[in-house]
Amino acid sequence: MSMRFENSRVFVTGAASGMGRATALKFGAEGAAVFCVDLDAEGAAKTANKITTDGGVAHAEALNVTDGNACRAAIDLAAETLGGLDILCNIAGVGGIAPLADETDEGWCLAMAVNANGPFFLSQAALPHLLASKGVIVNVASTAGLQGQAYMSSYVASKHALIGLTKTLALEFGREGLRVNAVCPGGTKTAFLGGFQIDDRIDMSLLSRTALLEEMAEAEDMANSICFLASQEARFANGAILSIDGGSVAG
Ligand SMILES: NC(=O)c1ccc[n+]([C@@H]2O[C@H](COP(=O)([O-])OP(=O)(O)OC[C@H]3O[C@@H](n4cnc5c(N)ncnc54)[C@H](O)[C@@H]3O)[C@@H](O)[C@H]2O)c1
Repeated sequence: MSMRFENSRVFVTGAASGMGRATALKFGAEGAAVFCVDLDAEGAAKTANKITTDGGVAHAEALNVTDGNACRAAIDLAAETLGGLDILCNIAGVGGIAPLADETDEGWCLAMAVNANGPFFLSQAALPHLLASKGVIVNVASTAGLQGQAYMSSYVASKHALIGLTKTLALEFGREGLRVNAVCPGGTKTAFLGGFQIDDRIDMSLLSRTALLEEMAEAEDMANSICFLASQEARFANGAILSIDGGSVAG
């Protein structure tokens, strides 16, 4: 295993499960000190324990990314614990299927809060540390951030917002040496898809190609791309929006 991230200090949200867990484990295995956060505190602790059991360095904390004050406190704690920050990975996310007429205020606001507000709070809080280290932010958006998707108004809007945030921060801070990029996964085998309930309100012919691909990715496929964008191999990638979707948004 190469040690691309020796001496790197990494903050990973969504670290309890799926892509966040796979990404935290990969950073840990490649030499980074990893600060694992998730709403699921026990799950984040399990990920951190796996990294340390395998000989790496990791810490875990509970964090609800929808809470701005909690995000600022978590970044402060991570920077204090690790001695700074080099890489912020915004991976935590929520989604589901709801025809517009059935989407609730709470459903809309939760998608925006987790998928867009959280990355904003954490990016802003981490900024002084990442400018000091000439660091990297990698956001996990979705193919739903690149195209419309029937029955997913809140999710699609929140992921478009995240891509807008990614491109804007890339422009605002690129000259100061901070790179900001996003990965857009297609359908990936994680617990996330369990939240997508298809019932008789749904016209299957309107569900996009992304939801109908026969083959799905593994969480590790996304971890590989997230770590690539975070690494020096991607030193010239800034504002890049990288689809890892088996070609579903290619045309
Ligand atoms: N799985 C897919 O098919 C797919 C496709 C495209 C994009 N994505 C995106 O990938 C990212 C990772 O999802 P995954 O597939 O690994 O799902 P997952 O459900 O396995 O992991 C998501 C994690 O986010 C955490 N989380 C949810 N709300 C949170 C909050 N308020 N604060 C902190 N943590 C919170 C959950 O506890 C969970 O551990 C998400 O942003 C999702 O939108 C997933």
